[in-house]
Amino acid sequence: MILVTGATGTVGRELVRVLAARGERVRAVTREPAKASFPDGVEVVRADFDDPASLEDAAKGADAVFMLSAPGPWIVRHDEVILAAARAAGAGKIVKLSAIGTGDHPEDRDWHRPGEQALKESEHAWTILRPSSFASNTLHWADAIRTGQPVPNSMADGRQGVIDPADIAEVAAHAFVSSDHDGRTYTLTGSEAISVLEMADVLGEIIGRRVETVPLALEDYRERLTRAGLDPAFVTTAVEGSRLVASGGNETVTDDVERVLGRPPHTFADWARANRNAFAS
Ligand SMILES: NC(=O)c1ccc[n+]([C@@H]2O[C@H](COP(=O)([O-])OP(=O)(O)OC[C@H]3O[C@@H](n4cnc5c(N)ncnc54)[C@H](OP(=O)(O)O)[C@@H]3O)[C@@H](O)[C@H]2O)c1
Repeated sequence: MILVTGATGTVGRELVRVLAARGERVRAVTREPAKASFPDGVEVVRADFDDPASLEDAAKGADAVFMLSAPGPWIVRHDEVILAAARAAGAGKIVKLSAIGTGDHPEDRDWHRPGEQALKESEHAWTILRPSSFASNTLHWADAIRTGQPVPNSMADGRQGVIDPADIAEVAAHAFVSSDHDGRTYTLTGSEAISVLEMADVLGEIIGRRVETVPLALEDYRERLTRAGLDPAFVTTAVEGSRLVASGGNETVTDDVERVLGRPPHTFADWARANRNAFAS
């Protein structure tokens, strides 16, 4: 049985779908089972990373665990809780969703580093997935695009190897069903590096109407996130992430998705076509 944490999230939802379609036994974790909807045959359990006993209960009987913590400085603590529950359950294999660049940031902003380290030192078989920026992050632009407003751009013309979350989920599924990926760390990207300006152009072509962007200075971005009530450590990491991208520091493109899946990753245009309705007015 594969326990999927973050099962209602961007990658977790896709992973549950892929594993269920392959006939794997899946148990999906959410804080609110009543709100969640999963394919037939998927078992759903309520657990909260802030209540370690609930996760320990949820993990009982798990052979494998997908380790996904929601973005924020709490990742460090939540990863510890997931790992402890997996250990208590005697799970053989853990696949951790990490992030590109882990190990390269100052320690207080390298939220995935302690979890990766603990996993590597554990008795479990493991695979670490370090994806680049998700194509689905552009859903944050959907309201602006639908109402004809320009998309604020804090990343100038910096490019990233933007990836379809469904590709990440497929790689995770492969890591669960084969031991070929044990002890591997994959840096998962799309097959091209693409900027905010270029993604806006792609979305414009797909909805048949030009999508404008407007530069957003990093200090204005910081103020906007702070005003939205976000955790200060989260705000700093988001601003520094934009600074890195703007300077060309996240242009990495790898062939890890193709090496695992035997096919090239989806392009941003593929993802955008599949999600056209979110942007069309
Ligand atoms: N977005 C990117 O571009 C990007 C790039 C690289 C790496 N990543 C990494 O990918 C991971 C996922 O990020 P995301 O933005 O896509 O988030 P997400 O997976 O869409 O959403 C968070 C998930 O975590 C669950 N969750 C949140 N708090 C929880 C708690 N206290 N206890 C139990 N479950 C909890 C939520 O479940 P319920 O609400 O149903 O309980 C939801 O399923 C993060 O670790 C992030 O660092 C993201």
